[in-house]
Amino acid sequence: MKVGVFDSGIGGLSVVKSLLAHKLFEEIIYFGDTARVPYGSKDKNTIIRYGIEAVEFFKNFDIDLIIVACNTVSAYALTEMRESASCPIVGVVEAGVLATANAVTQKSSNIFIIGTKATINSKAYENRLKALGFHKLQAKATPLFVPLVEEEIFEGAILNATLEHYFKDVKIPDALILGCTHFPLIEKQIRDYFKEKTMLIHSGNAIVEYLKKEFHLEEKYEDTKLKFFASENPEALRKTAQRWLYER
Ligand code: DGL
Repeated sequence: MKVGVFDSGIGGLSVVKSLLAHKLFEEIIYFGDTARVPYGSKDKNTIIRYGIEAVEFFKNFDIDLIIVACNTVSAYALTEMRESASCPIVGVVEAGVLATANAVTQKSSNIFIIGTKATINSKAYENRLKALGFHKLQAKATPLFVPLVEEEIFEGAILNATLEHYFKDVKIPDALILGCTHFPLIEKQIRDYFKEKTMLIHSGNAIVEYLKKEFHLEEKYEDTKLKFFASENPEALRKTAQRWLYER
């Protein structure tokens, strides 16, 4: 099994980390559109166009599946990407919804969704969760976490002030969907903020659960081959991958 993993930049590495931990693929080809990140502040048509271009990029490789490791792209562009692809495409939003529905047993649980502006405006999570009967939903765009994670500010005063800025008026939720693949890098700090009372849903773990269920994938590849591509400065992406995948 050879998989293409796509994100607007480096956030999708948190998904790669989960894929590696579960040994699902023989080879992972990662493409980060580092020249055009962030996507979360762009409009729908631009996000769709970038998504289709990523499908074109992966046509250079003989891959079996594309994972969209970006909530923003998953929220807007999956239909169009599927139309132009010759292999299956899965996104982290549908996987995150399924993981939430599996983990949260009470329909009256309080679920809080955070993500980029585009993801939150799309209501991609809310609409799907409502259709499943969950009705206590809150959602908030928290885009400042993206540059903080990219700057590797994983703790300290600036991050604490940002957590306070976004979460001070939020009632402690039963479950929190980390609706952006950058956010698992500050998962511990978010967990600490809500004093561990909240269950966190992580795109990487959600996609693993989804692939096992829908594609019947098994944990069998001990040494996954990894290739990294970026639309700008691939060396920087490779260095970040080294740190995030193996040193953090
Ligand atoms: N990692 C992307 C996501 O999951 C967000 C970063 C961006 O704004 O491009 O939505």
